[in-house]
Amino acid sequence: MNPRRTFLKQVSVAALASTVGRSAISWALAQTQSGIVDIPGEDDMIVRSFRFVDLETPVEYFDQWLTPVPRFFVRNHMHEPGELSAENWRLSVGGEVEKPLTLTLADLGKLQSHSVVNTLECAGNGRSLHRPQVPGIQWGKGAVSTAKFSGPRLRDVLEQAGVKAGGKHVMFRGLDEVPGKVPPFIRSIPFEKALDSDTLVATQMNDAPLTKHHGFPARALVPGWIGAASCKWLTEIKVLDSEFVGNFMSPGYRFPNQPLKPGDSVKPEDTHVLTGLNVKSVISGPLDGSALKAGKLTVQGAAWAGEANIVKVEVSTDGGSSWNAAALGAEQSHYAWRLWSYAWNAKPGDHVIQSRATDSQGRVQPAEAVWNPSGYLYNAIDEVKIHVA
Ligand code: MTE
Repeated sequence: MNPRRTFLKQVSVAALASTVGRSAISWALAQTQSGIVDIPGEDDMIVRSFRFVDLETPVEYFDQWLTPVPRFFVRNHMHEPGELSAENWRLSVGGEVEKPLTLTLADLGKLQSHSVVNTLECAGNGRSLHRPQVPGIQWGKGAVSTAKFSGPRLRDVLEQAGVKAGGKHVMFRGLDEVPGKVPPFIRSIPFEKALDSDTLVATQMNDAPLTKHHGFPARALVPGWIGAASCKWLTEIKVLDSEFVGNFMSPGYRFPNQPLKPGDSVKPEDTHVLTGLNVKSVISGPLDGSALKAGKLTVQGAAWAGEANIVKVEVSTDGGSSWNAAALGAEQSHYAWRLWSYAWNAKPGDHVIQSRATDSQGRVQPAEAVWNPSGYLYNAIDEVKIHVA
């Protein structure tokens, strides 16, 4: 592990002391002799919560098109399921269908497998940057990663069950272990998205079986949409005649219909369910606060736009007075982020570097994100401050 990451982990542990009970910290510290938190299968991640395992990817790792699984952010609302075996796991498919099914992992394996490279972003990514600040996990910029997801298409699974005419929404239920009174993780997506040829019952990530943190043995993959749509540890698919009503659809994961004054509240009836992601770019290097030598420097990062494609990324090295086109990386796929870079001749001084993405729907990353009480969909122009000597 590099020394900077070690430092970051220690910082993360320290930051947690103020937000979670001492017992959780003692438990975590007991895992190692050095005070560094090692979570099996995870590599150099920023720990945002131990209680349910919420791990953020440091932005400097946005330098690979496909995020290695141990560096792919993790977002859990509850405890991960305890024992899960590929042999005993079952997936029920029911509701408004002609023939309810109970499928095994082997049954899924018999259906044609399809792969989608998808950038998965948590709706709460960047929440800590909203002003005024809002409650919830204080994600920095790294609750987003990209992987190749593979598995049968959801529509092929539904076709086996035969959907009745009244089917309008498809509900997913996860096997999370629900603590106390927390409602189970259940959400639904409209039929149109469920039947999209890129919506999957994914069993693989980057050509290997899903790991436990990412939903083993199967998860929904709803590409281009907020991460919450992609239910992990899938145990039930149910066709409904209307949108599912429950905590993770309402009040969770809703956005005000009209812009609010920062700090204002909103009535539930004036909100809508979140679906596709915003246009956004993040600078992965140089890192905020770094001191560098004058001369040739590469400003780089990643940009994504949910169901749209990135068409342009611009970089400003003078705090937004002028903008220059960045070169977009060769690797691309619908729903996947685009890496970008900009060659800069850095002169001595203090500099504010910014990045701004534009997508195929004409959306441009705004100077300020739209404030909302839950801190969703933060996408303001990204910015790092550096010193060049
Ligand atoms: N599925 C279940 N069953 N339980 C969860 O807590 N979290 C959701 C989604 N699927 C969640 C879930 C959220 S909010 C996000 S952002 C993504 O999973 C994160 O997926 P990852 O942990 O594989 O990165």
